[in-house]
Amino acid sequence: MTDRSLSIVILAAGKGTRMYSRQPKVLHQIAGRSMLGHVLALASGISHAKISVVIGPGMDDVRKEVVRWSPDASIFVQENQAGTADAVLAARDQLAERGDVIVLYADSPLMRPQTLAKLVSSLESGAGVSVVGFEADDPTGYGRLLTDASGDLIAIREHKDASADELNVRLCNSGVMAFRLPDVVAVLDRIGNDNAKGEFYLTDAVEIARRDGLKAAVVTCEMDEVLGVNSRDQLAVAESIWQTRARLAAMRAGVTMIAPDTVWLSFDTVLGQDVTIEPNVFIGPGVTVGEGVWIKANSYLEGADRKSAAGLRIDTGAEVGPFARLRPGTELGADVHIGNFVEVKNAVLAPGAKANHLTYIGDGTVGAGANIGAGTIFCNYDGFNKNRCEVGAGVFIGSNSALVAPVRIGDGAYVAAGSVITTNVEPDSLAIVRAKREDRPEWAAKYRAMMQRRKG
Ligand code: UD1
Ligand code: MG
Repeated sequence: MTDRSLSIVILAAGKGTRMYSRQPKVLHQIAGRSMLGHVLALASGISHAKISVVIGPGMDDVRKEVVRWSPDASIFVQENQAGTADAVLAARDQLAERGDVIVLYADSPLMRPQTLAKLVSSLESGAGVSVVGFEADDPTGYGRLLTDASGDLIAIREHKDASADELNVRLCNSGVMAFRLPDVVAVLDRIGNDNAKGEFYLTDAVEIARRDGLKAAVVTCEMDEVLGVNSRDQLAVAESIWQTRARLAAMRAGVTMIAPDTVWLSFDTVLGQDVTIEPNVFIGPGVTVGEGVWIKANSYLEGADRKSAAGLRIDTGAEVGPFARLRPGTELGADVHIGNFVEVKNAVLAPGAKANHLTYIGDGTVGAGANIGAGTIFCNYDGFNKNRCEVGAGVFIGSNSALVAPVRIGDGAYVAAGSVITTNVEPDSLAIVRAKREDRPEWAAKYRAMMQRRKG
């Protein structure tokens, strides 16, 4: 190891015009987290690294996103997009004279930590500049990595500046580069803009370092790690690659997926051992699923949405779905059953509680072992405020009941089917709220006879 400091500079200044979006490109999400958030997480995985993010002028939302994921990161503004070297130099105050520097792009969210580790160790073993490269099926548009017989890097040639021979090279620059130079700022300051785009190319640092007698190296990775997102269709490709990796990791850690391609996970999904997930399940951010939980087909789970990040926790042995919707602030205790067409939001269900059919449980608690009958609605909203329903342990709510919050149903009580409950129910009592039944014997037969007479 080394006593040198390490700075990671993340370039996030691009507006991403080809996204056709009101939001800056790097705020678009993969698996429920912005691309910038993914890259910040990758950078944070390297201990002792100082993180800097270079943003464009007026990008206040991007600034907020940096603070959200990496409160200690420094933020710099690149006033004019004059090229990748100019972008890195926007952070010049953070680039210590004797420190190592890694440059990442915020629109390339799929790099694996192992690849970044390889890059760092190539500096350890003597490279002054090291570049992450990949073999492209179609290298069009990428900078080409020109190497000598021993595999050392000679230069990076941008597509627009490449000769016919150089265009045949398939080893491409991912954009991720690392520097261990006597003075990195001095080298970047020597880069000119005499090229096809008139930009200050970071990639020119390779030739400058070599002229100074330093070694330049390439570490390689799979192409799927370096996908850069410039458009919504590339965003979808990145999402798909991320999901494939996450499903594989989950299955390899003991999760069963009957049709993995139809299961969507989020960046922070936690799945316990022996969880089973049936087809067509979407899991949004903030969801933690305990051991042995069974999530049946066509269920939608999220612990965070635009309004709330209260989380969603499902404890051991619970069953959810098919066709269930679980929203932020939900906690399902062990062995809880949530069945088809049941929605739960901001509610805690104690172990063994059941709501198997057609129910809304919003803003409340349900005690251990309680049974919520088909069609029960927690009427939590009066048009102005949200109120709570407290349902005790062992309670039985008959089908098609409405609990009008705020209201408490005492432990062990029964609510008769079809009741509208507006005031508290005492423990172990029965509440019936229905119109009284009236029976008229023989009425129907007489009615039919009368009508047939009139018609005939
Ligand atoms: C760059 C590399 C190329 C590599 C390719 C991989 C250079 C000169 N070329 O080319 O070798 O194969 O990426 O995708 O580095 N940016 C700024 N400020 C600027 C210019 C760029 O922040 O002034 C950011 C962009 O937002 C983007 C990244 O830097 O995230 C790369 O810039 P881009 O213009 O896309 O470079 P490429 O031509 O793709
Ligand atoms: Mg690019």
